[in-house]
Amino acid sequence: MANLLGVDTGTGTVRPAQPSDAAGIGLVHVRSWQAAYRGQFPQDYLDGLDPARRAAGWRRYFEPEPPHRQALLVSEIGADIVGFASVGPCRDRDTAGAGELYAIYLLTQWWGQGLGRQLMAAALGALAGLGFEEATLWVLDANDRARLFYEAAGWAADVATKTDDSFGFPMAEVRYHRLLP
Ligand SMILES: CC(C)(COP(=O)(O)OP(=O)(O)OC[C@H]1O[C@@H](n2cnc3c(N)ncnc32)[C@H](O)[C@@H]1OP(=O)(O)O)[C@@H](O)C(=O)NCCC(=O)NCCS
Repeated sequence: MANLLGVDTGTGTVRPAQPSDAAGIGLVHVRSWQAAYRGQFPQDYLDGLDPARRAAGWRRYFEPEPPHRQALLVSEIGADIVGFASVGPCRDRDTAGAGELYAIYLLTQWWGQGLGRQLMAAALGALAGLGFEEATLWVLDANDRARLFYEAAGWAADVATKTDDSFGFPMAEVRYHRLLP
């Protein structure tokens, strides 16, 4: 059965997140980072990630209200949160007016089974619903899995690159762009 967003994976659903999803989102966030960024981020940093702290951060997303023109979606199998995606206005100065896919993560055991494609479709629909006509995202230069996934979903690398030091170690990233449906 289709949900509010009209997205049904056959084995799960994608729906707007609610405050009670914060713990599940925090767990996905940490477990997915620990798997996807192994060998790319310092191991002690990955080992120190705490699902409860991440959950607290996501709980604040709803307080007092979700940020203006943003959307947070969860992918659910039964009663379990297995993925999430977050979108909103682009944070880069040179792309004023565009939207941005801030995050898209699934629990490792669900990688490669089509749930990412469903979550992406919902995220693109949410961006379009928020009034954006184009969008960007940033991905680690070395994150080949995600880059292939984005390219299969109609995104293409643009000219922008950056080295992000905000976590205390350098992360080489490339920006992708696409028009929205
Ligand atoms: C990136 C991610 C969300 C993709 O979701 P997914 O469910 O694994 O992807 P899907 O199974 O829906 O794949 C959709 C398409 O993407 C491409 N793709 C996905 N994984 C791929 C891989 N490992 N190699 C090549 N192509 C791949 C394929 O074209 C695939 O279509 P196909 O199965 O018909 O060939 C998921 O793998 C994930 O959470 N990874 C870790 C977190 C991460 O890196 N997030 C992005 C941060 S910028």
